[in-house]
Amino acid sequence: MTATPLLECTQLTQIYRVGASEVIALQGLDLAVAPGEMVGVIGSSGSGKSTLLRALSGLLQPSGGSVRFDDVELGSASPAELDTYRRDDVGFVWQSNAENLLPEQTAEMNVKLILDLLGVDEAGDRAVELLERVGLGDRRTHLPTELSGGEQQRVALAMALANSPRLLLADEPTGALDAESSAAMFELMREIQQEDGLTQVIVSHDGELARYVDRVIRIRDGRVSSENRWDDAAGHETGEALVIDTIGRLQLTDEQRAALGGSDRVTAEVRDGEVTIRPVDGGERS
Ligand SMILES: Nc1ncnc2c1ncn2[C@@H]1O[C@H](COP(=O)(O)OP(=O)(O)OP(=O)(O)O)[C@@H](O)[C@H]1O
Ligand SMILES: [Mg+2]
Repeated sequence: MTATPLLECTQLTQIYRVGASEVIALQGLDLAVAPGEMVGVIGSSGSGKSTLLRALSGLLQPSGGSVRFDDVELGSASPAELDTYRRDDVGFVWQSNAENLLPEQTAEMNVKLILDLLGVDEAGDRAVELLERVGLGDRRTHLPTELSGGEQQRVALAMALANSPRLLLADEPTGALDAESSAAMFELMREIQQEDGLTQVIVSHDGELARYVDRVIRIRDGRVSSENRWDDAAGHETGEALVIDTIGRLQLTDEQRAALGGSDRVTAEVRDGEVTIRPVDGGERS
C-alpha cells in the first residue's frame, strides 16, 4: 500500500469480562485502509468482526492497541473529539433494519430526521437527493413495513451518507437479505465508492462480498489471518496471502495445520530467503 492509510489499527485487543470469565474477541489485530479503499472483512460467527467495527467507530474503547483515523488517535481522543469523529467523519449501517430505521416514519422522514439532527440546511431536499442516490426516489413516502428488506437497508445507507462521511462502516449490511438483494446492496456500495471515492469497511460472513471490494481480509480468532483480492478477469480471488502481524505472528489455514500432522510444535528454518516450517517429533497431536 503506497498512500498513507486513512484508517489504521495496530495490535487491537479486546477482552470482554463476563462475571469471572474473559472472552478474547480481538487479539492483536492489525489493519490499514487507504483513502478511497473498500475493504471487506469476512469471518465466521464470533471471530470478532463486530467488535472490530465498534472499535473503528469509536463506540468501543478497546482493551489494548490503537486506532487512528487521519490525525486522530481514538484511544487518546477527548469525548468531544470522539463525538466529532462519529458525527462528521463516520457513517454506519447496521445489520438489522430495526437498528437503522424508525418504524413509524417514512423513508424520507427517516433520512430527514438525521439531517435535522446534523443541522443541515434544506434537509427536505437533501433527504430526497439521498434517497435518489440509493435508487429509492419513488419509495420516499413508504413506511419501513412497506419496503422490502433490501430497500430498508438502502434507506439505512442513505441515512449513513447524510453527514457526507469520510468513512463508511457497515456491519453485515446484507445479513438479513437474500442473495439477490445482497448483491444489489454490495453493488450500490461499490458504485458509491467508485463515484465518490468513499472509504469503506464492510463486515460480512458472506464470501460473495469479495467480488465487490478492493481487498478482503479474513479474520479468525480475533486476528487477520489472510488477505486477498478479487480478480475480475479470472472470476475468482487471487493473491491469497497469509498476514504476518506487527509482532511476527501468522495463522496457518486448517489444511496447512493438517499437513503438519496436527503437531503444535514446529521448527522454522530460514534458507535462501525462504522459511520452511516442519513439525517437531513429540509435539502434541490434536
Ligand atoms: N459485550 C460483550 N460481552 C461479552 N462478550 C462479548 C460481547 N460482545 C461480543 N462478545 C464475544 O466476543 C466474541 C466476538 O464477538 P463479535 O460480536 O465481535 O463477533 P462477530 O464476528 O461479529 O460474530 P457474528 O458473525 O456472530 O456477528 C464472541 O465470542 C462474543 O461472544
Ligand atoms: Mg457481528
